[in-house]
Amino acid sequence: MKVSASAPGKAILFGEHSVVYGKPAIAVAVDKRARVTIKEGTNNTEVKIPQLDIEAVIDAESRRVTWMNSPQEAGKFDTGILEYIQVALSQLGTPLDGLKVEVDLEIPIGAGLGSSAAITVATLAAAARYTQQEVSLEALAHTAHQVELQVQGAASPLDTTVSTQGGFIYFTQEKGAMKIKPALEMPLVVGYTSKPGNTGVLVEGVRKLRETQPTIVNPILDIMEDLANQARKSIIQGEEKEVGELMNINQGLLDALGVNTEELSCLVYRARHAGALGSKLTGAGGGGSIIAYCPGKTREVLEELESIENAFPVGISSQGVTW
Ligand code: PMV
Repeated sequence: MKVSASAPGKAILFGEHSVVYGKPAIAVAVDKRARVTIKEGTNNTEVKIPQLDIEAVIDAESRRVTWMNSPQEAGKFDTGILEYIQVALSQLGTPLDGLKVEVDLEIPIGAGLGSSAAITVATLAAAARYTQQEVSLEALAHTAHQVELQVQGAASPLDTTVSTQGGFIYFTQEKGAMKIKPALEMPLVVGYTSKPGNTGVLVEGVRKLRETQPTIVNPILDIMEDLANQARKSIIQGEEKEVGELMNINQGLLDALGVNTEELSCLVYRARHAGALGSKLTGAGGGGSIIAYCPGKTREVLEELESIENAFPVGISSQGVTW
């Protein structure tokens, strides 16, 4: 038996960090996916992620991971990535013996593009097919969020929701996801630094800052809420310039929360210099990526960012998880 499922990565346009405090966020599913294939093997479970050069065996009983290829290299990528797969499989009661799990990963890891959520969602969907369980999209998104919580500690359900649902999403913890119909083109370019950010550590940093400076940080979070709401209107009404402007303000506030870095700032300003209407860090920050909104200037922004770091254009994927 052989089954597959795939799920997209995501990019946050507005509301990272403030979403943790119940504020709205706007995010898109991107046209880069994680595809998970599960088939019958022998004895223990083998996991392969060729793009990361990861080949490992998980012992069915002890759950110990043995690296089959260059363990130092694999260790560099943090065994965490395997943990998402392992925990996801166990959530659905999938027996951990005799499986061959292969992940085809188009999303760069640690770049704030939701690779762990996409891997988790796709693994859960593939495991549900493998064990012939009916799972609704809501249940899948909920279970995927539980997996993220278990593996990384702090996490809002934003990434797992966007990866499950696909499309252009306005999200609040209270009401979940609502699809947005943009009245404008959304040419986006991502530039990513080679240094990954650690989401758990950054979320914790903001929590501490809010605790020590509540009268400063709470109003910042309130303004981030206004930004996301204003941006939603501008996107629906097709107001390009405003969308860019709001992204730039959001970047300033993320900097104030302490999650910006010099490398990210450099990419942000170079993107604007090359003609982006708006640019900001995307995801947890502390490294990872920026996203630039560049109507009519995609090539210029891409070339500018590529001259410093890695960059690629991202399309919006209307397709969430498929299996
Ligand atoms: O690091 P990422 O791309 O998973 O983004 C995290 C977004 C935060 O708002 C900082 C945290 C969260 O769980 O929502």
